[in-house]
Amino acid sequence: MLSRQIASGLRAYETPFYLYDTALLRQTLESVVYESNKYGYKVHYAIKANYDDHLLAIIREYGLGIDCASGNELRKAVEAGFDPRGIVYAGVGKRDKELRYAIEQGILAINCESIEELMLVDALAAEAGRVTDVALRINPDIDPKTNHCIDTGQADSKFGISYEEVLEHAEAIKALRHVDIVGIHLHIGSQIRELHVFENMCNKVNAIVENLERLGFSFRFVDVGGGLGVNYDVPENEPIPNFASLFSIVHNHLAVGDKEVHFEFGRSIVAECGELITTVLFNKTTATGRKLAIVDASMTELIRPALYGSYHNIENITSEEEGREKYTIVGTACESTDVFDENVSLKKTRRGDLLTIKSAGAYGMSMASRYNLHDLPGAVYSDEL
Ligand SMILES: Cc1ncc(COP(=O)(O)O)c(C=O)c1O
Repeated sequence: MLSRQIASGLRAYETPFYLYDTALLRQTLESVVYESNKYGYKVHYAIKANYDDHLLAIIREYGLGIDCASGNELRKAVEAGFDPRGIVYAGVGKRDKELRYAIEQGILAINCESIEELMLVDALAAEAGRVTDVALRINPDIDPKTNHCIDTGQADSKFGISYEEVLEHAEAIKALRHVDIVGIHLHIGSQIRELHVFENMCNKVNAIVENLERLGFSFRFVDVGGGLGVNYDVPENEPIPNFASLFSIVHNHLAVGDKEVHFEFGRSIVAECGELITTVLFNKTTATGRKLAIVDASMTELIRPALYGSYHNIENITSEEEGREKYTIVGTACESTDVFDENVSLKKTRRGDLLTIKSAGAYGMSMASRYNLHDLPGAVYSDEL
């Protein structure tokens, strides 16, 4: 872990800040490119996970496409130099101006998530005098066996169109003249560690594609989303997620002939290369005996623990004490849920010590806010040290 190796040098920077190990990011990208090339799979980076310019420039070097979830994410990707023909755009609630921009850019596919959206895209494309490529985001009704806050493909979820609704409107969809339905898209959730779930997903995709093609649709690609989980518990044991296993499962179970297969990975690309470095401001003990370490980061820099109860491994990287103690690590925000973790065993911790909150490269900085008028955190990159 990078912060441990360079702990004393980190005192030069104002905390809290994100520390990015760009060498690890490159190794991760090398792995995903190498493993996906074995099967000719196409990989998009889900820019929502982290839209940092420096990281995006590195990701672009490896030839990945982009998956975006808003007009501004799409604009960011285009401005960062990604080819619009490698960009897919999902989202349940796209505004007219966002759709107009996507149509104008001629992206790989707008992943439509409702019949109404599909009709609107057709109308907006007609207005622009274009035919726009679209993928149908289908809700596959799969339990991804992950934190329920980040599952996206169960029947009652807001994401995707139900398969039944697609069937009901099949003729109307095929009659649209300004959209070309080129693909099927689904994304069942995030932080999926039980990989057999992807087997169920493949079986669903096979049936959906076969049935819809029988009804006269013809798809060029299937986009099976992202979701590969990372090891938050002991990140040192698995700094690079197991892309090989996921691709092999998909290879063995997806049966869609020679259609292109696309993936949209966010967390698995950037989570492990980022750490949030924070300083211990104060220690105190509650009347109930709970030892608190109050740090200068908070839910405004990393909201995942407060939002979803997510776990991040935390370590004191500057303490030279022999003994360990259990701490509840709390942040500076005026919210009782602003707790990074409880019962964390740390080397005896004092004011001024630096802690690292690991595996924070995904959905960390990109979800940061200015609540309490906190400053947004800075970033330090290993290749600039
Ligand atoms: C449509 C879509 N694709 C891809 C992703 C990326 O998922 P992950 O970060 O789990 O790889 C998400 C995340 O929410 C998503 O909603």
